[in-house]
Amino acid sequence: MHRVIIDTDVAMGAPGSDIDDGFALALAVGLPDQRLELVTTVNGNTDVDTATTLALELLHRLGRDDVPVVRGAAVPLLRPQHEHPARERASEVPPTTRHAGNGRAAAAIVEHVMASPGEVTLVAIGPLTNVALALALEPAVARAVRSVVVMGGVFLGHTHQLRMPGEFNIWVDPDGAAVVLASGAPLRFVGLDVTRQVRLTAEQADAMVRDGGAFGRYAGECTRAWIDFLDTSHPGDTHTLGTCAMHDPLAVAVVSRPELVTWQPAHVAVETRGDVARGVTVADLLTSRTPPEANCEIATAVRADEFTELFLRSIAGVDPAATG
Ligand code: BDR
Ligand code: CA
Repeated sequence: MHRVIIDTDVAMGAPGSDIDDGFALALAVGLPDQRLELVTTVNGNTDVDTATTLALELLHRLGRDDVPVVRGAAVPLLRPQHEHPARERASEVPPTTRHAGNGRAAAAIVEHVMASPGEVTLVAIGPLTNVALALALEPAVARAVRSVVVMGGVFLGHTHQLRMPGEFNIWVDPDGAAVVLASGAPLRFVGLDVTRQVRLTAEQADAMVRDGGAFGRYAGECTRAWIDFLDTSHPGDTHTLGTCAMHDPLAVAVVSRPELVTWQPAHVAVETRGDVARGVTVADLLTSRTPPEANCEIATAVRADEFTELFLRSIAGVDPAATG
């Protein structure tokens, strides 16, 4: 059994906003060999208060009010806060009856990991601010954590976007990412060049709405709204129209099924300064005669069809009423 903490900037449920963190939480709940023990929230896709409300709301929909949710960092370590698009603000988010746990995410991560050395896997699917703060509070977390799986970076590709040349999670808090990369913790990164290859289609979202139970209908509708937003805002991405990437669910999936991706040891550095290359990750693949020391493993390829099969089956499974 994999004991899991998910650190997330979940926005599923804020109208028209990114949905993949929500599916990542659902996947962790649905995979029979994962035990989701703690959810911590971080500023990223949305502000941290909205992410906290949405995490509570989503866990309620998944029948998992027993999983503690602890609020985390409201801003990046050093970088100025980026604007959250108006569509993702708290005013449109439904109220919840449950409240977040006491304390703050970084301390909760430290306590949870240090209480069970070698047992807890931390899956970080938002900016790395909380993880960096946890490692600063207690550097021994780097030795006590079983593994840190990060959705972040782009290693064998490029975003081809001048406004945000680095992948979003690293771009929001490159200093947090640098702290994590220097920590010595066992790190595995699934980067954008790989996660972009695992996609949910509008037709699959429609099938969730049609055949799913309460969660499937909700998640399918959120997915349609997100795909519509992407199609409108990125009309030039003709090869991805009508679909959206399942970035964060892939990070959850590889905890149970590491063979879904190909892993390659690397030394990853992140650009923390400058405006043009902010958040860009550079991966040295250790091929020179005198390579730098590896500080992580990166995913370089993915078995996309196998992931999608596992994902759709697991998501259907979280809905007792689902038919498909
Ligand atoms: C990452 O950024 C967010 O928008 C997604 O949830 C994912 O964690 C992809 O770049
Ligand atoms: Ca995310």
